[in-house]
Amino acid sequence: MAEIRLRDIHKRFGRFQLFRGFSLGCPDHAYLCLLGPSGCGKTTLMRIIAGLAAPDAGDVLIGGRRVNDLLPAIRNVGLAFQNYALYPHLSVAGNLAFPLRAPVRRAHYNEADIRAAVKRIAALLKIDSLLDRHVNQLSGGQQQRVALGRALIHDPQVLLLDEPVTHLDARLRYEMRAEIKLLHDRIGTTTIHVTHDQREALAMGDLIAVMREGELEQIGTPLKLYDTPATAFIAGFVGDPPMSLLHARLATDGSRPALHIGASSLPLAAELSAQARTAKSPDVLLGLRPQQVTLVEPERGDVVAAVYSHEMVGREQQLLVSMAADTIRCRMKQPIQVVAGTKVGLNLSLVGAKLFDAISGKSLADLH
Ligand SMILES: Nc1ncnc2c1ncn2[C@@H]1O[C@H](COP(=O)(O)OP(=O)(O)OP(=O)(O)O)[C@@H](O)[C@H]1O
Ligand SMILES: [Mg+2]
Repeated sequence: MAEIRLRDIHKRFGRFQLFRGFSLGCPDHAYLCLLGPSGCGKTTLMRIIAGLAAPDAGDVLIGGRRVNDLLPAIRNVGLAFQNYALYPHLSVAGNLAFPLRAPVRRAHYNEADIRAAVKRIAALLKIDSLLDRHVNQLSGGQQQRVALGRALIHDPQVLLLDEPVTHLDARLRYEMRAEIKLLHDRIGTTTIHVTHDQREALAMGDLIAVMREGELEQIGTPLKLYDTPATAFIAGFVGDPPMSLLHARLATDGSRPALHIGASSLPLAAELSAQARTAKSPDVLLGLRPQQVTLVEPERGDVVAAVYSHEMVGREQQLLVSMAADTIRCRMKQPIQVVAGTKVGLNLSLVGAKLFDAISGKSLADLH
């Protein structure tokens, strides 16, 4: 097993500079979810670790060893991609055995060893009854198991899973997630799992690394990202639902610290005042979870907003309300009758709220 470390990675495609000094560490045995929106560089990073793409500068270390100059087959990395990339002309057994027949390993395995390894991995992934089938006769979930088996058959030091369950339907996705996690608990291979689904990352990762436009926004446990998001981007992206973000301005009312939102002024209690003291600019974003927002009559609200949309999420009604350019999510204890455009008042509880710099998006809380 092995730690994975990327140090100061640079990568450019033509004129487009994707990475400019990207660094990331994944400890030995960890299950790290790499989370970020489409196009932020997740797949490229996996390809760089696997050796399928070369960085323009920077180091890739696996188990403390710099592997930049090693061919992919020698890096001892297991890879499973989003589209499975199985060999259509081979059977399940043929696909599983493929890595063991690669030129670099051929000398190490005779046919009996290969048969034994295929049997072992097929049992682990519960595909023993499918070994003679062609891969185009398999369901999506079965194909995914074969792709995983093929990634694991040579006992790689690290496992890279790029959107491993994205193509599966909701039920199967849920099942496969649990199985992949159980598998990891059993074999302990250091794993990076790429996803753009924050729920998947929160459910599966020991650690989550959030990327955005080729940069690492934050790395931490799911709880840390949820409780202390380092940036407004993470606050607005992670969580179920994520935080609502409101433009606001730090001010003083008399001598008391306050937050101005639109025409309203809310006093800042000790916790937020401490956050406010680190501000470089008075323009901030206020991050609120739905439980901190209560819907009231328009005249009784701290602020006034208009209903934008409403939906039932399970048994709960959720409202999206808009205030100037901002959208705020509220959860209703009792469903109410509203239509888009209805004026509502919002009471905002600032206990546990977060403040972010409006320009840089950085948290004003002390994250250390
Ligand atoms: N071979 C390439 N040539 C040119 N641009 C590329 C190449 N590979 C990736 N890119 C660009 O680099 C950026 C990152 O791509 P990448 O595939 O790593 O994103 P991603 O985070 O995996 O996205 P997704 O979630 O959609 O899979 C994109 O803007 C993409 O267009
Ligand atoms: Mg990708």
